[in-house]
Amino acid sequence: MNIQIINGPNLNLLGVREKSIYGDASFESYLEQLVARYPDITISYYQSNVEGEIINKLHEVGFTFDGIVINAGAYTHTSVAIGDAIAGINTPVVEVHISNVYKREEFRHSSMLAKNCKGVIAGFGMDSYRLAIESLL
Ligand code: DQA
Repeated sequence: MNIQIINGPNLNLLGVREKSIYGDASFESYLEQLVARYPDITISYYQSNVEGEIINKLHEVGFTFDGIVINAGAYTHTSVAIGDAIAGINTPVVEVHISNVYKREEFRHSSMLAKNCKGVIAGFGMDSYRLAIESLL
């Protein structure tokens, strides 16, 4: 089974950025644990701060992989283009957020991606990614 994790803008700063919201672990250290937990799954990781690059990655893996876990960061709330890319591929996509976006500013309550996703997981810290993988198994 091939699962692609895609992280969007500013998520390269996990562990450094707004620690009270996102915690103090880097994504790379969390990913190591995740990969070790699922030895039978190939988990690929991609991060970009660039909208078009995220779309290119969705196109690249979206017809062959078994699942995609995406945290599109702030693009979640703004990007019609990423929403359209998800609608255009065959692989099921799970939207994730580290924070509970519904407890935060109102502009974070809407998602341009969610209606084209299998489901949405938000608010469980980094564990949101593991829960998303479980939902794809
Ligand atoms: C986020 C929530 C977004 O609103 C924010 O812009 C992020 C991270 C999260 O994982 O909680 O960059 O997607």
